[in-house]
Amino acid sequence: MARHGPASLALAPPKPVIRDGAFHRLGAHRWREGANQHQAHRDKAQNGHQNQQNRITEHAGFRAPSRCVHFVLTLRIVMRNSVLAPDAIPLPNPVPDEGNRRRAIVLVGLPGAGKSALGRRLATLLGLPFRDADTEIENAAGMPITEIFARYGEPHFRDGERRVISRLLAGPPLVLATGGGAFADTATRAAIRASGAISVWLKCPLPVLIRRVAGREHRPMFLNADPAEVLQRLMTARHPFYAEADITVPCNDESPEVTTRRLEQALASHTPPHRVPVGLGDRAYEVLVGCGLLARAGGLLAPVLPAKRVAIISDATVAPLHLPALRAGLQEAGFNIAAELTVPPGEASKDFARLHGLLDDLLSAGVDRRTSVIALGGGVVGDLAGFAAAIAMRGLPFVQIPTSLLAQVDSSVGGKTGVNLKAGKNLAGAFHQPRIVLADTDTLQSLPPRELRAGYAEVAKHGLLQGEFWHWCEANGQAVVAGDAAALATAVIESCKLKAAVVAADEREESAEGGRALLNLGHTFGHALEAEARFDGSVLHGEAVAVGLGLAASLSARLGHCSQEWPSRVIAHLAACGLPARITDLPRRFTVEALLGRMAKDKKNRDGKMRFVLLRGPGECFTSSDVPAEAVEKLLRDEGAHEN
Ligand SMILES: NC(=O)c1ccc[n+]([C@@H]2O[C@H](COP(=O)([O-])OP(=O)(O)OC[C@H]3O[C@@H](n4cnc5c(N)ncnc54)[C@H](O)[C@@H]3O)[C@@H](O)[C@H]2O)c1
Repeated sequence: MARHGPASLALAPPKPVIRDGAFHRLGAHRWREGANQHQAHRDKAQNGHQNQQNRITEHAGFRAPSRCVHFVLTLRIVMRNSVLAPDAIPLPNPVPDEGNRRRAIVLVGLPGAGKSALGRRLATLLGLPFRDADTEIENAAGMPITEIFARYGEPHFRDGERRVISRLLAGPPLVLATGGGAFADTATRAAIRASGAISVWLKCPLPVLIRRVAGREHRPMFLNADPAEVLQRLMTARHPFYAEADITVPCNDESPEVTTRRLEQALASHTPPHRVPVGLGDRAYEVLVGCGLLARAGGLLAPVLPAKRVAIISDATVAPLHLPALRAGLQEAGFNIAAELTVPPGEASKDFARLHGLLDDLLSAGVDRRTSVIALGGGVVGDLAGFAAAIAMRGLPFVQIPTSLLAQVDSSVGGKTGVNLKAGKNLAGAFHQPRIVLADTDTLQSLPPRELRAGYAEVAKHGLLQGEFWHWCEANGQAVVAGDAAALATAVIESCKLKAAVVAADEREESAEGGRALLNLGHTFGHALEAEARFDGSVLHGEAVAVGLGLAASLSARLGHCSQEWPSRVIAHLAACGLPARITDLPRRFTVEALLGRMAKDKKNRDGKMRFVLLRGPGECFTSSDVPAEAVEKLLRDEGAHEN
């Protein structure tokens, strides 16, 4: 993910209101320091204040690519590759891993939490420089913070504080202790996040803080006030913002050495979630893949939602398992949960009656246009809650928190939402992109093995579409279905990258050929099998897709697009992963006529012709409407579908 370059933050134009006040000096100091780092800037700085605005503009021209630019570049590369190899889906750009490079550490917390004392020790331990933001501000302004507050007011202080913090974070890695109010300021939090620094909340219980601030009664905030009351008030106001920090380290009465060690360990074991960008212009969002995301949900969602108010929709199996962790994670960051709604688990919940009930419940819970709907569950909950969010009050912000493998690797990304009709699956719905997807791989631990295997069918599909990823699947698929954490994480990340690239290039499936329709590999057969099984649980969506993949590969070979090697390999791999790979592996009978009838009604068909995704080999898939009906009929019969 692209980060803002140092200069873009260091050179934010100073407020012009106060020409001769503290922040004018602050701006000049900041400018001098920035100039020390860049000879070219120093030369220009010597030309005087008059040229400053020009310099700012010039420098802005050298900004590192913003996130949006990164998306555009990714899309361009995808498009360019598409031209080179029209049928192959290109590997998405690798997402730079921010986890391993040395990053600045920003300590946040209430007065008395020990930000400066622990920060100094931590810096020594890590061999990094230490800076205290408040001291820097006072030096820059040439007056104590109390005086800056008194003369210019808090908004100007926060503005200057943000510029100083941004400037410090733009330099080499360091440990930075911030003032207690810094991280409670929205723009400063955003600047810290954008700098790539790791933020750490030193979380202290109230009695410890009270003991530690004893002797600081001369500080303006404690003057003529009861420190306990002041701290309690600050706690209520600021904790929800501190909860947005990357790491929380509980601090107690133990020695500073012990706390510093704990701090160091927390930093060493911190694994930031992997971020997969979905490049959709002003509707761009990220898929976050990692462990423990439910507990951090509030901090992760807050920056991308319009308000800290949500309604959660889940199913009756998932809610008791994972809603408590999500609820706690949201509440810690100060979220108001307007409603917690559950539907019965299973495909039958994806219907109009259930949707109607959910809409009524959302409205009677008092949601407004800034309330976000969170889907917590598998693909059924995601599709249903997403559709409710798309049409309630003409569209509410939406968040996907997928808990099944199928939902993490497929249905939560791309914005397709909907319900089933008597005429077929997903026949009523809307495109409604989420603001963010949190794929917490820990939730997969409670997923029944059969559901895990069913989800793997979509991973294998992505492997066939992508090419290189298919070979990874052949080597690691069995580890995925056995629940191996590392294999699962890779399966989710690579699948999301593939899906994000396809969706970004053809969001609404409008490409004449290829495009998003390629994601239906195996689905023309799969949907027919699933519908014939009447969604009674005997054939899961992923199981139907697995059989569909085998049939699509066999059809491709019969039509001469690939050698017999590929259907054999696809079927053997799916079977080795414990999935049904042939019609006869499914626990019920299907007739050729019924399956053909279902396929004829598939919504992907064009001009009355059945549309299939076929393959020449992994990474070489294409859409075709020229498949003779007789070839499909013969394939179904040969594969074990009955005459009637
Ligand atoms: N929108 C899209 O782009 C898209 C893509 C693919 C599939 N889908 C849809 O997704 C649906 C299938 O999704 P699914 O396979 O996730 O089905 P599902 O939502 O029914 O979940 C499967 C089962 O697993 C349970 N479950 C989910 N997470 C769990 C967890 N962590 N622990 C324990 N149990 C858990 C659920 O309660 C359910 O019983 C279908 O309706 C399909 O049409 C949509």
